Amino acid sequence: MIQITAKLASKLKSCNSVCVLTGAGISAESGVPTFRGPEGLWSKFKPEELANVQAFLANPALVWEWYRYRKTLLKNVSPNPAHIALVKMEKHFKDFTLVTQNVDNLHARAGSHKVLCLHGNIDKNYCMTCAKDFNDANLAQTTVPKCDCGGLVRPGVVWFGESLPTQTFEEAESAARRSQLFLCIGTSAVVYPAASLPLIAKECGSYVVEINPEVTELSAIADESIFEKAGVALPQLVDIIPKN
Ligand code: OAD
Repeated sequence: MIQITAKLASKLKSCNSVCVLTGAGISAESGVPTFRGPEGLWSKFKPEELANVQAFLANPALVWEWYRYRKTLLKNVSPNPAHIALVKMEKHFKDFTLVTQNVDNLHARAGSHKVLCLHGNIDKNYCMTCAKDFNDANLAQTTVPKCDCGGLVRPGVVWFGESLPTQTFEEAESAARRSQLFLCIGTSAVVYPAASLPLIAKECGSYVVEINPEVTELSAIADESIFEKAGVALPQLVDIIPKN
């Protein structure tokens, strides 16, 4: 059992406005590798070689191969108890905002209705020339898919050096500002601007709680760190929320 402080218990029992930021760690217990760390995706593949537009234009077949590997991996995994706990929180709190850096769609598959996806969605793709959308089902299964207009089709994710979707980030920032409780779950908190959200929340007086088995960049600033796996800690937090 995790130790839940009186302050956190009181926030969970009485606050109205909660904002949650998730990162790759929340999907780790589903079997999706995180990015950093010894087993992380970026220990095998360098972001500068794969996750930016120059890399894609230089070698689209290699980048597509990497995304197909991740798309296939995701087809064979399921949401875990941490994703499900957040669905329960969404139902309980009057003002609840789930923000994710993940592109894996596991929050939606678990049943979360509204998810602010800061880094895009791996199930979507679009033409770099005419912006036409392609989902995986209507994507040509050639090595490098092309649009009818002749343009290159790319994965619908945000790459290094690209801007986040403006309105989505604004909504996330506004939710962080008005939150009374901010949960930062399974992220190394090093990639900006996503990593600015718990800092903004803290500045605006929110109670910032991190859930992560490891110390992160946020640990020194958070009001509390629960050094535990998300799939273990989150269901226990949900258990103390009064039933509606
Ligand atoms: P990282 O791989 O940087 O960090 C994952 C975090 O999850 C680490 O701090 C782990 O300690 C933690 N973790 C591992 N297992 C966990 C578990 N069971 N429960 C809770 N936490 C666990 O992933 P992100 O912070 O999400 O961006 O990375 C941010 C961005 O960097 C990604 O969205 C991606 C990447 O480059 C783009 O692709 C644009």
